[in-house]
Amino acid sequence: MAVLNGPLSCFEQMDDVQFTHWTSLLEERTGMHLPKERRSFLETSLGLRMKEIGIQDFSAYYHHLQSEKNGEREWLTLVDRLTVHETRFFRHEPSLEFLEEVILPRIFESEPERKKIQIWSAGCSTGEEAYTLGMIATQFIKKLSKHCYLAVTGMDISIPALVTARKAVYEQYKVRHVPERYLEHYFVEQDNGRYQIIDTLKKRVCFVPFNIIDMKKTLLEPMDIIFCQNVLIYFNRDRRKQIIHQLVQRLRPGGFLVLGAGESLSNPHSELEKVDFPNSLAFFKKLNE
Ligand SMILES: C[S@@+](CC[C@H](N)C(=O)[O-])C[C@H]1O[C@@H](n2cnc3c(N)ncnc32)[C@H](O)[C@@H]1O
Repeated sequence: MAVLNGPLSCFEQMDDVQFTHWTSLLEERTGMHLPKERRSFLETSLGLRMKEIGIQDFSAYYHHLQSEKNGEREWLTLVDRLTVHETRFFRHEPSLEFLEEVILPRIFESEPERKKIQIWSAGCSTGEEAYTLGMIATQFIKKLSKHCYLAVTGMDISIPALVTARKAVYEQYKVRHVPERYLEHYFVEQDNGRYQIIDTLKKRVCFVPFNIIDMKKTLLEPMDIIFCQNVLIYFNRDRRKQIIHQLVQRLRPGGFLVLGAGESLSNPHSELEKVDFPNSLAFFKKLNE
């Protein structure tokens, strides 16, 4: 971390009032909750970005972000720097087993002639989760020999993350968790050693910018399956409840919501029914009576 002890130290430390201003701005615009313990993370992230664009102090940067001319574009860059994009293909096995063993079979049992399945990866980061869901669902549909159209939508607040997702090209180390049978079917190794998602899968998966705390602007058909994993942890309890409420509005009755295993809320929504499956946290949206 030599870089942090070097030129950055010329930046002022953030005082309590500045910290409150910054955390309120972040909370209001992204819902992100930054406790006091993360003050040095905020100082460092802002400091690094300010150094890149030649701004000397936190107040000047705060005003720059409000400016009509470049503020909006700079805001998108900053949000990308402050959000955690950690993800990987086939990240949470129990949830994926739940998808394969419970969700998809139930959808086709209840509606054998189903012609379309819509899946949403909310907070998709650089696309690995959305493509993973796409691969598993495609294999499942193939196995049943059904003519069913699959559409996966990945959404995230970070534009650079979405750009990577749309490219659908990943370094070799990123595909190390992809099971061999999926790697063979859905990736092509390029001359430079990177792996490209094949076109037929790429066409099924689209990526759209969105802010999870402002879903009113998000036009989506009702989803059959929503994965929202490792996203809610960045929000406080009230925000989590609001987000779940919005996700439920976008879920088809009979559809499934899959959260990260540790992102529990005891009673998230009256329209949801918990579905027990080992090491996972998943809910079924009750059918209309
Ligand atoms: C840790 S990643 C999780 C990625 C993936 N879901 C997984 O589990 O591997 C969290 C993602 O949530 C996104 N995020 C954070 N705040 C958001 C917001 N207000 N609206 C939409 N996405 C947000 C971040 O940009 C980041 O890509």
